[in-house]
Amino acid sequence: MRRTVIAGNWKMNMTPAQTKAFITDLAPMVAGMDKCDIVLCVPYVDIATAVEAAKGTNIKIGAENVHFAESGAYTGEISAAMLCEIGTEYVVIGHSERRQYFGETDETVNLRTKAALKAGLKVILCLGEVKEERLNGITNEVVAMQTKLDLLGISAEEMKNIIIAYEPVWAIGTGLTATPEQADETCGVIRATLAEIYGSEVAESTTIQYGGSMNDANAAELLAKVNVDGGLIGGASLKTDKFTAIVKAAN
Ligand code: PGA
Repeated sequence: MRRTVIAGNWKMNMTPAQTKAFITDLAPMVAGMDKCDIVLCVPYVDIATAVEAAKGTNIKIGAENVHFAESGAYTGEISAAMLCEIGTEYVVIGHSERRQYFGETDETVNLRTKAALKAGLKVILCLGEVKEERLNGITNEVVAMQTKLDLLGISAEEMKNIIIAYEPVWAIGTGLTATPEQADETCGVIRATLAEIYGSEVAESTTIQYGGSMNDANAAELLAKVNVDGGLIGGASLKTDKFTAIVKAAN
């Protein structure tokens, strides 16, 4: 059945030296906790250091974004091949901060996802409603539409390398968390949408994480829900003890 995946999203935090120290600390703390996959998605410049520090451990390394072109005149961007060559296994795509501050759309999220899959990366695809959408009762429509648009043209076979992260935008970095029931319900809507597109086998085997102020205190309750298969963790992934507590809750 589907794997539980606990992934940290460091955002714009940690230098290479801090990365090395963090992973050196974390590795013995999470050793043997193998009932979930453990991933750290880190800034581009930290990836090589992170890959080296995580060698021989159960920690996998991801990037926080990727461009959709193979190469070319895209100043400041990073391609999937570049990420693969330095040992990156995962990539976060469509994070709400990218959509909000950097103009990313379902269309570019879809293109990035295709480019990442083609290069052999595993994708953590983020989507979720903003506060006004939840307050107006259209969360289900919004996440279903994002799921369909972001996955346009992606095959059932390719879904094996996609994790969906349901991240209500109002809960990210705010200290507000969706209740376990809200998280379960909306992850369930995403799963039903996957069933509509790909059939129930793909829907049942796709990992759907919850993200948005998940921490050591609320992780166990959220992860206990049937449709919540892990977490994408921002703030609490920057402290080894908090992150370890979440991994423990998943185990
Ligand atoms: P947060 O971030 O845990 O700090 O709310 C989650 C995310 O942005 O993935």
